[in-house]
Amino acid sequence: MRIVMIGSGYVGLVSGACLADFGHDVVCVDKDAAKIEKLRGGGIPIYEPGLEQLVASNVAAGRLSFETDLSAPVAGADVVFIGVGTPARRGDGHADLSYVHAAAKEIAQALSGFTVIVTKSTVPVGTGDEVERIVREANPDADFAVASNPEFLREGAAIEDFKRPDRIVVGIEDERARAPMEAVYRPLYLNRSPILFTSRRTSELIKYAANAFLAMKITFINEIADLCEKVGADVQDVSRGIGLDNRIGPKFLHAGPGYGGSCFPKDTSALAKTAQDFESPLRLIEATIAINDTRKRAMARKVIAALDGDVRGKRIAVLGLTFKPNTDDMREAPSLSIVQALTDAGARISAYDPEGMELAKPMLPDIDYAASPYAAAEGAAALVIVTEWDAFRALDLKRLKASMASPVLVDLRNVYREEETEAAGFRHVGIGRGT
Ligand code: UGA
Repeated sequence: MRIVMIGSGYVGLVSGACLADFGHDVVCVDKDAAKIEKLRGGGIPIYEPGLEQLVASNVAAGRLSFETDLSAPVAGADVVFIGVGTPARRGDGHADLSYVHAAAKEIAQALSGFTVIVTKSTVPVGTGDEVERIVREANPDADFAVASNPEFLREGAAIEDFKRPDRIVVGIEDERARAPMEAVYRPLYLNRSPILFTSRRTSELIKYAANAFLAMKITFINEIADLCEKVGADVQDVSRGIGLDNRIGPKFLHAGPGYGGSCFPKDTSALAKTAQDFESPLRLIEATIAINDTRKRAMARKVIAALDGDVRGKRIAVLGLTFKPNTDDMREAPSLSIVQALTDAGARISAYDPEGMELAKPMLPDIDYAASPYAAAEGAAALVIVTEWDAFRALDLKRLKASMASPVLVDLRNVYREEETEAAGFRHVGIGRGT
């Protein structure tokens, strides 16, 4: 299949590289000339484990290339994916569809022969109809079908998620789109990943419903964690105890400082807005959003309480800034609210993150950045683990204690057991572990 991917950001680049790896002929397009230049030179604009090698090997095999102009690649394509950004619109929380609409208009001018246009970006219900209308209006003679094919990739595990998905969802209104979409995903289909064909609106909603459900699941266990602290129970055992029930499942039941990232906050708010517009409010999702927002700052209060209510003038070491490990993404990271609240309370922050410090610096300009967890901990009154990078799982606790002003560990991801940190002389504060 000849495939064009419009937008070479996170979704577009990972999907494009993986589709090329299946043997398809893929052109990734992006308006950002500097990005395309970098990709052509073998550079990768984002941090994602394994992506650099995947891109390099498919470029070398002649299956993957990069362009700034979509005209020629679209004219020769069987399937054109739209993988551009859909950021939250300033002010009202709706998804900003201007990039999707602009891409649709441009694609329309370049179409030649029957082509399937697929929205891969996360778009509100009804966007497929709008894309179809825009293309038809811009080019009344075009022969095309518009499909929806949401992605379920997690940052840091995106290649694995693309190649071994739990399911592939494809929404179509025109039966002519079915065969090309089956051909695109044939390698996965052969691997027994279920491919689910639905109507286009259903497919668009599945993506939002999946992310909203996962955000709700995390928020549920976070509230249970708070209750555990009050009643003297252990949230990790509660997670295991409920997660072993097949109807609940063990994943996304890790209590922590609240969910962040480029997807859950944006998608939950866009879904809640859509539901309000259609006068069918999703109250569980509205509550999830509100609870998660307040939780991030509440984590700072937890740190302050661990230091007996006063952090003024004290140095606090923060380990992990990104919204989760194995990414450099800082969007909506809990660390942003936590560091801000601690700074507001008068603390001085030393932070360390294996990949996130470059992107963190403009967002958190007034803190110190350390070269290692040990350098961050020097002279600190408390060490706070905000993101569970593997590099923080086997820290030399004795060495940390020796250089700190007071040995307090606030472990917001439950990386350590209280017994081991207390044996090393720390005062331990975890999440959802009542004593
Ligand atoms: C999420 C979904 O998991 C993907 O399926 C989806 O494709 C993607 O959004 C998207 O819409 O593009 P992602 O945001 O990369 O992926 O990361 P997750 O692994 O889902 O984590 C999101 C947040 O939830 C992180 O802040 C993480 O620390 C937090 N989390 C996750 C918890 O606090 N507890 C958990 O048990 C799991």
